[in-house]
Amino acid sequence: MSKPQSFDPAEYVKRLKVHSPEFAAHHNEVISHIPQHCPVFHAHMESFSPTEIDVAVIGGYEAIMATARDPEILSSQGEPEMFEAAKAGLISLNLPTYVDPPLAFEYRNIVDPFVSPRAAKELEPRVRELVRKLNDRMVEKGSLDIVQDVAQPLTAILTMWVTGLPEEKWFFYSDIIHRMLWRDGDPLAIHAEMEAYRKVLREDIERIRADPNATGVLGATRTAKIQGRPLEHWEAEGMLMLLLLGGVDTTQALTGSATVFLGHNPGHRQQIINNPEILPEAIEEFLRYHAPVLGTSRKLAKDVEVEGVKLKAGEQTLVCWAAANRDPAAFEDPNEVRFDRPSNRHLTFSVGPHRCLGSHVARMEIRVMLEEMFRLYPDFKLVEEGLQFAPDVAIIYGYKAVPLTFPPRKRELPEDPQLEKLLAPMYAKR
Ligand code: HEM
Repeated sequence: MSKPQSFDPAEYVKRLKVHSPEFAAHHNEVISHIPQHCPVFHAHMESFSPTEIDVAVIGGYEAIMATARDPEILSSQGEPEMFEAAKAGLISLNLPTYVDPPLAFEYRNIVDPFVSPRAAKELEPRVRELVRKLNDRMVEKGSLDIVQDVAQPLTAILTMWVTGLPEEKWFFYSDIIHRMLWRDGDPLAIHAEMEAYRKVLREDIERIRADPNATGVLGATRTAKIQGRPLEHWEAEGMLMLLLLGGVDTTQALTGSATVFLGHNPGHRQQIINNPEILPEAIEEFLRYHAPVLGTSRKLAKDVEVEGVKLKAGEQTLVCWAAANRDPAAFEDPNEVRFDRPSNRHLTFSVGPHRCLGSHVARMEIRVMLEEMFRLYPDFKLVEEGLQFAPDVAIIYGYKAVPLTFPPRKRELPEDPQLEKLLAPMYAKR
């Protein structure tokens, strides 16, 4: 019998096949290798198409801090043709992702009131009520899937509230996004479905922006000005696409990863049971260790030398947040999950002008889901054979399914027919 081939991260990083099952299996080894051995390096990386591209990878904590905060070093600005295509309706151009400040800040300022710390606080009772209901309908069975029954509907319904899209369309607006980001299915079929999706999104945007009662980000885009002129539909589309891409899978993935970790590490679980007030620190540590977003793409705006490596203007770059989180120069014992870190300045939400706008909302959602988990089924067991990892973790690292069992308990709430109607499209598809 041939011996299984050993995995060599030093060799692997030269040709980063980030979409491969091998990468998913060795993700931890790769991200912890980078900051220690090659905080800045050149590689061939598998792109979204089957071709490989040359990239500069920046994955050391200090290297990122020295570059990613300055758009004059690392720029997000898209090519002019991309803007032409977006204006012509041929593509959705995620905004503000593809623009540098100061324009990026103008788009961010429109979204911010709906995701700020204050907004997260105001949303919390609604989120709590929904999480309670989502759990309550399952507790008599003594089993549920924390990703599919709780995190998936919660994160998508909340994204409808934030964007101002119709709540009843949450499943339509999130289901294909999961499959696209995880490359879960036939790529051509997913592409065709995305085209149809964008058409519906555009129709909804035009209809909602004409409605004086519109709410959320869409409501705000009715009167918002960009560079002193009214915001156009293609820009609203780009902003919404980004919220749909950013708001759903990331938070869902972290919730799944944290639950699997707690299922496999009873000592850590007990620490939270004994001291529930450490949950926020535990969540920060889950965010650091299980960063759902591997990295973000940027372009070098000028020649620079970082950690002795020469980088050239125009080079495509992968700023690897997940790797920086494993940098021993920034975190003691970075490959250990420790809830008592004196400071935990992880880069999971990135750093710089495009830092995640949804971090306050995401933290609140995760906390409420875990608080309800610890209240209702602290003694859960993972159904190991039912755990399903994402088929492709290049963009979002996480689980598709995390089934749990626990001692059944009585329902606390009356059945909610409206919620059942809202959830029906998701359960119909399973
Ligand atoms: C655990 C959950 C989440 C993680 C790990 C995460 C991570 C990230 C990362 C790494 C970026 C890229 C920043 C960059 O390019 O520098 C980003 C951007 C963004 N995220 Fe999140 N995100 C999460 C949840 C959310 C949620 C819940 C929302 C919305 C409700 C959201 C909205 C956004 C937006 C709008 C941007 C674009 C900001 C910009 O380009 O200026 N995110 N996020």
